[in-house]
Amino acid sequence: MQVLATVCAFSLDYCTDFQYIEGLTMKFFIRTFGCQMNVYDSELISELLLKEGLKEAPSPGEADVILVNTCTVRQKAEERGHEYARFWKKRGKKVVMLGCLAQQEKERLMDAADLVIGTRSYTLLPKTIRELLGKRRKAVLTEDSGLIDLTEISLSRSPRLSGFSEFVTIMRGCDNFCSYCIVPYVRGRETSRPPEMIISEIKNLESRGIIEVTLLGQNVNSYFYKGTDFAELLDMIDRNTSLYRLRFTTSHPRDMSYKTVKTIMNSRRITHWFHLPLQAGSTRVLRLMRRGYTKEEYLDLVETIRKLDPEASITTDIMVGFPGEEEVDFLETLDVVEKAGFDHAYTFVFTKRPHTAAFYLKETLSPGEKGKRLRRLIDCLNKTIWHRRQRMLGRVYELLIEGPSRKNKRLSKGRTDGNITVVVTRELKPGMRVLAKVREIKGLTPIADVVEMLE
Ligand code: SAM
Ligand code: SF4
Ligand code: F3S
Repeated sequence: MQVLATVCAFSLDYCTDFQYIEGLTMKFFIRTFGCQMNVYDSELISELLLKEGLKEAPSPGEADVILVNTCTVRQKAEERGHEYARFWKKRGKKVVMLGCLAQQEKERLMDAADLVIGTRSYTLLPKTIRELLGKRRKAVLTEDSGLIDLTEISLSRSPRLSGFSEFVTIMRGCDNFCSYCIVPYVRGRETSRPPEMIISEIKNLESRGIIEVTLLGQNVNSYFYKGTDFAELLDMIDRNTSLYRLRFTTSHPRDMSYKTVKTIMNSRRITHWFHLPLQAGSTRVLRLMRRGYTKEEYLDLVETIRKLDPEASITTDIMVGFPGEEEVDFLETLDVVEKAGFDHAYTFVFTKRPHTAAFYLKETLSPGEKGKRLRRLIDCLNKTIWHRRQRMLGRVYELLIEGPSRKNKRLSKGRTDGNITVVVTRELKPGMRVLAKVREIKGLTPIADVVEMLE
């Protein structure tokens, strides 16, 4: 591992004079809140701690130290992480808070934690955890260490999410500063990882049985490393690995180039799943959000993709109740939903986040009004998604099986190339690939019978 360029500052003076406690087998448990970026980081952190000789506890109750990887993108996400930490702290556990909320709130979290460690100081974790457990000291560690050096760990790690599918981060941070979003403040500036490193990480995972990789970044389309852009990175991975499926998320609609769309369409392994967060349908609101595209440009992008592949799956994130959103603006959002024909959507109610530009805008809707808009949005989405699902009836899809169905363990669930979950009418092992024919749509879930086993 590289030597850290600068040593992180301990912002509380009582954190000096640490000692190592040798020979202790400490058990840790990690609970992750937030997006796939945090899931990926938690995997690397587990790997780091295991390599340092700590053991993983099967449940929080059995752990000596509980690590809470936090999120702060919305008020609720923040509260959930903080409450979880407080819960275990009250029960006498050592608690370490990591991640985006930790980066943001620092000392305020010390009521719930013994150690607060931000998104850029993770390499110092093993040492500080030992010190923490041995000395019963408290510490806040959120300054930029100058490196987010989990490189060595990432290149040699064992798959932990499942035996067949993993995340690989291709870039960190975000430079977009959408007016509602706290991510650039807690994750820092955008930095892309070298293509060779990404390919080595994927090859290591492949050698350990991984057949599906999802590339991660807050805006993968702006990936750029010494002359290599995102389309070229995709192409390099396509040519240098033998994955069954290669996915990526999240795309920014403004930066999704035709070159990237064509690269995806020309590849056998890159899936035709496009997660394109819309956020709002009104060009006026999009401008206030600083999204950098208009309603028409968004719809043009959807049309371009569907012209090249009518079966391409397009999913999205939509927010209601942004300050100043009028009924006419909201109707524009519903209009885009109907025209785009999304295959899936995540919906949110706007909440104010510190530091962001929208924090200073006057809220114009009550929580009740926002709730009503959210319900109308979900109704509209469900109708359009239902129409998209009907197209699947009678068709055969290649599925990668994930495990038993949530509701009935004798059934399985798998995903299509377009990332749509399908329930299969028999028990199958995770990681299996099958061809299955959709016999009915229950709610919004396709139910399918196996017609051929692919391995
Ligand atoms: N980078 C992605 C993008 O450009 O859309 C997603 C980032 S964010 C982690 C995931 C989603 O959270 C966003 O797409 C947005 O819909 C939602 N979100 C972000 N800030 C929010 C806020 N202040 N209130 C409500 N939802 C928010
Ligand atoms: Fe947040 Fe916008 Fe960056 Fe996405 S692109 S992480 S919404 S600032
Ligand atoms: Fe949350 Fe941080 Fe992700 S704020 S959504 S965990 S980048």
